[in-house]
This record gives sequence, C-alpha cells and structure tokens, in this order.
Amino acid sequence: ERHWCVVPAAGTGQRFGGVVPKQYLQVAGRTILRHTLDALLGHPLIAGVVVVLAAGDPHWPDEADAHGKPAFDKPVLTAIGGDSRAASVLSGLERLPADVGDADLVLVHDAARPNLALSDLDALIAAVRANPQQGGILGAPVRDTLKRAGEKRSIAATEAREQLWRAFTPQMFARGALSSALRSVRSKGEAITDEAMAMELQGAHPLLVEGREDNLKITTPADLVHFEFLLGRRA
Ligand code: CTP
Ligand code: MG
Repeated sequence: ERHWCVVPAAGTGQRFGGVVPKQYLQVAGRTILRHTLDALLGHPLIAGVVVVLAAGDPHWPDEADAHGKPAFDKPVLTAIGGDSRAASVLSGLERLPADVGDADLVLVHDAARPNLALSDLDALIAAVRANPQQGGILGAPVRDTLKRAGEKRSIAATEAREQLWRAFTPQMFARGALSSALRSVRSKGEAITDEAMAMELQGAHPLLVEGREDNLKITTPADLVHFEFLLGRRA
C-alpha cells in the first residue's frame, strides 16, 4: 500500500521577501519546490502528489519537460490554493484521486521544506501505520531555553521546555478525518498553523515522531543559505 501526499505551495513568502515566491527560487539547478517533490516522490511508499498552486501561478509550467508535461515518474496532480495554508491543504485533499478512501492515510508536506530525509518519511509512515486513527507528525524537542516576554521586552518568566516540541511536516492522517477537521476549522473561522492543530480541535492527540533537525523550513533568506550548505555537504 502506498500513500498520496498533498504539498501546499500556494503561499507568497511574505517573510522571505523578493519578487519570486520562495518555493520557486533555484538552488543547485532545481527550484525549492522541485527539491521537495523529488524528496517525496523518491520514497517507494509515496504513490503520487497533489501540488497546491496559487491561482494563475506563472512559475509551475517551468517545472514541465520539453514536451510540456510535468517531468515526474509518478503522478503529480495540481489544485488551486486558498488564502490560508489550511484552505490550500483542503483544496489539495479534494483533488486526490477517487480511489483514495476516507480511511486511507495521506501526508501533507510544505513545499518550503526541501530537505526531507527518506529515513524521516520511513519513521513517520511506520509510526502512523501502527496508529492510523491517531495520526502523527514529524517534530523535534525544543533545545533553547524559552523566555516569556513581558513589559518592554523584559523577561517575565522562563518556561519549562521539557514537554515542548517544534512541529514539522510531513503530517499524516486518515484522509476523511483530516478533511472533516479542516472543514470544521473553515466553518468556525478558526486560525490554525498545521494539520495536527485541526485534528486537536476535534479532540485528537496525534503522535509526535522525532525527526531530523535539518528538516528546515525556508522562511527567511538565512534558511536558504542553510539549505545550500546542507546540499553542498550531501554532494
Ligand atoms: N501555503 C499555501 N497557501 C497559503 C499559504 C501558504 O499553500 N495560502 C504554503 C506555502 O507555499 C508553504 C507552506 O504553505 O509551502 C508553509 O507556509 P509558509 O512557510 O508560511 O509560506 P508562506 O505563507 O508563503 O510564507 P509567509 O508566511 O512568510 O508569507
Ligand atoms: Mg505563511
């Protein structure tokens, strides 16, 4: 059994800045988005991908081959995103092929996380297959000491970090449960920042699967430099 993955790529990269959205910046001859798709599609347990694009995205056609066909050896479908990441993911879920059932486990992975390791995908898929109702996400324990800011940026308190994790993607859930959680979020106007949070609002407690710290999300130009460094070391 293999799994589909939804890849939200409809953001405008406001924190990164610049004219071209960050997922279309070139690193070592490939766009960030292409690095991300190649990492996912290179895993034997991934069946195909739905890439969620901004309406009128002028850059996606450049990922095609000389014949105008997307140059991938597994199915790559596209959907049109919304004005929040959650809306984009829901749109992608609606575009999944008809043979993906409600109980089937699907993944969601940010286009802006190009340094995904096959071993992390292995770990997440294995953990969630063993607990399909619960679902799960990749993450890592917080390493820094955490301060709560008070008046005028003075420290109000030091927070206990033992139970705190950073949330990464991929995140993996049953397709039907995730769709209905995201529809509930939409109808209530709730603001969420990942799929797990939508599930949590339904009372779920998804698994935390410890992943590599270098599963970085490209948010600012410094992250791009970091990714270039990691790629250089891999080569
Ligand atoms: N995303 C999306 N649809 C949106 C917003 C974000 O598909 N309406 C995607 C982004 O393209 C990215 C992923 O969700 O791959 C994670 O979002 P983030 O890193 O926040 O990207 P942006 O929203 O583009 O960046 P920013 O928040 O700085 O504007
Ligand atoms: Mg954003």
